[in-house]
Amino acid sequence: MAAPVQKGDELELQVDTLAYGGNGVARLDGFVVFVRRGLPGDRVRARITKVKRSHAEALAVDVLRGGPDRVDAPCAHYPACGGCRFQDLAYEAQAAAKEAQVADALRRLGGVDTPPLEPLLPAASPFFYRNKLEYSFTQLPDGPTLGFHKAGRWDAVLEIERCWLTTDLGNAIRNAVRDWAREEGLVAYDQETGEGYLRHLVVREGRNTGQLLVQLVTAPGDRFEQGYLVDVLRRFPEVRSIHWAVNDTPAEVTNLPSRLLWGEEAIEEELCGLRFRVRPNAFLQTNTEMAERLYGLAREYAGLTGRETVWDLYCGIGTIGLVLARDAFAVWGVEVSEESVACALENAELNGITNAAFFAGNVGQAVEDLRGRSGDPDVVVVDPPRAGLAGKALRRVGRIGAPRIVYVSCNPTTLASDAKTLREEFGYDLVRACPVDMFPHTPHVETVALLQHGET
Ligand SMILES: C[S@@+](CC[C@H](N)C(=O)[O-])C[C@H]1O[C@@H](n2cnc3c(N)ncnc32)[C@H](O)[C@@H]1O
Repeated sequence: MAAPVQKGDELELQVDTLAYGGNGVARLDGFVVFVRRGLPGDRVRARITKVKRSHAEALAVDVLRGGPDRVDAPCAHYPACGGCRFQDLAYEAQAAAKEAQVADALRRLGGVDTPPLEPLLPAASPFFYRNKLEYSFTQLPDGPTLGFHKAGRWDAVLEIERCWLTTDLGNAIRNAVRDWAREEGLVAYDQETGEGYLRHLVVREGRNTGQLLVQLVTAPGDRFEQGYLVDVLRRFPEVRSIHWAVNDTPAEVTNLPSRLLWGEEAIEEELCGLRFRVRPNAFLQTNTEMAERLYGLAREYAGLTGRETVWDLYCGIGTIGLVLARDAFAVWGVEVSEESVACALENAELNGITNAAFFAGNVGQAVEDLRGRSGDPDVVVVDPPRAGLAGKALRRVGRIGAPRIVYVSCNPTTLASDAKTLREEFGYDLVRACPVDMFPHTPHVETVALLQHGET
């Protein structure tokens, strides 16, 4: 069908549903238009921004009649801020849309006609749920400030006074660092010119321990009095660890070697009754409360009796594996980041767990070697990044033929296509799946799935 619209056209559209990724879906005589900022049930005036053969993209410039689930967004920075996409959609409707997206992916991409889907586990706290936030510095006429990228803009940062995804303490620490930067007469780094100094601020909060870690990221140069920054941050007794990292590249990254300015090297977080050490660069699920629920589901799906050999692939700092170790014979973890593997080993020791071992390696290459060490696994847990079991990993894991695979996924589309390959080429049936909402007001949805080998 020829596209019935052109770039730049403005027209009225009726939005029906939400697509995976967060855009509203409207149809013009069957031709799909993805509408940014359009919510289900909305009648909007939209401007077409891109036209392809199969669909077009548009931006809602005016809501003519709001859908039934529109609510007032509580945050003063919404919708200019790029952090949240759906504060104006009732939480129940967000959760329903995410559940439908997981079902749709499993049907369309996974080829499962009736997905064995359990009801989505909604977020326990729709706001204030994040344990980590990364802010960017930007320069205003009256000095530097801190905030998030504006929605759809990699080149513009919006000053934030109060973020609804972190705690009052997290907000107060960010604002104290902003005031410090102004008092010190420092200048924010300019991404376009490469001039200026202050780049990012990372605040991590052990939500079950009350311990905070703060990391300042600057351009090269020793331009601030370290002792004074430490004094400012120590006004918050919860701050236990203060780091400084230097970024000498144009890339906007915070995952950098860092220098301890004051306090402990790491903070601790408690998950499922275990303590985990968290360093500035270690991966930790950013919603502590829901990570516990997610791991609880993984544990239930693993169905351990104490006799099983369990693999924890893409293990990060060992969280899932260590939570399962209590109910398993042995746990073997693989993770590409050496720093995370070091944390996983340290975390095993911290919790007195002696039946878990962790190795640095790429899953695609490491599984045969792992089998040589551990023997055949009974349960394989995988928790890959958004790309899923990419490259060689999918077929190598499939070929191992473990009776059960517990797949923890942050992307239902790759989960669905991986599940399809595991069924068609390796005989695995999808027997249970449960979406989990870890990130309210964003398009992200996590899913735990159980794949069982046909012969077992
Ligand atoms: C979604 S995180 C899961 C971490 C952990 N399971 C958790 O719950 O905290 C994915 C992890 O996979 C690691 N990773 C990415 N690609 C990998 C690969 N090819 N082989 C091994 N690990 C990989 C990342 O470093 C990251 O720690």
